[in-house]
Amino acid sequence: MAIYASSFGRWLVLSLWLGLFSCHSPDWADEVTGEVRGDYIYNYYCTSCHGKQGNSNISGASDLTKSSLAPEEVLTVILNGRGRNMPSYRNMIVEEEEQFKLVEYIMQLREE
Ligand code: HEC
Repeated sequence: MAIYASSFGRWLVLSLWLGLFSCHSPDWADEVTGEVRGDYIYNYYCTSCHGKQGNSNISGASDLTKSSLAPEEVLTVILNGRGRNMPSYRNMIVEEEEQFKLVEYIMQLREE
């Protein structure tokens, strides 16, 4: 019985551990199409400084509606961070599709 209990215990620890890794990031999929949504990622990580519309400058954040960066420069800033208050998201937004959709959404904030 003791042996059974301890191997069950080990199994439990292992499955919790694996569970932690398999849901390392929130789910950004659209409820209907299943596609990654750039606006979901933006609203989750970025609005606290850049605001919902992209034009807040909380903590000195740049106005994204007036940005003139090219898409690949936007991605560089997101991945590396910049200056004192723009964090690096390299370890949080890891999937290429997530990065692409987020950049696409940032570019679109300029037109609205
Ligand atoms: C803690 C506040 C904060 C958060 C959260 C934040 N930013 Fe920033 N962001 C800044 C600041 C401050 C700057 C200006 C950095 C500098 O050059 O000093 C900036 C600059 C930028 C720029 C450069 C714009 C330009 O034209 O120069 C981009 C792009 C950007 N942020 C995108 C994002 C995205 C996308 C997210 C979410 C994944 C995000 N930021 C989250 C504070 C923040």
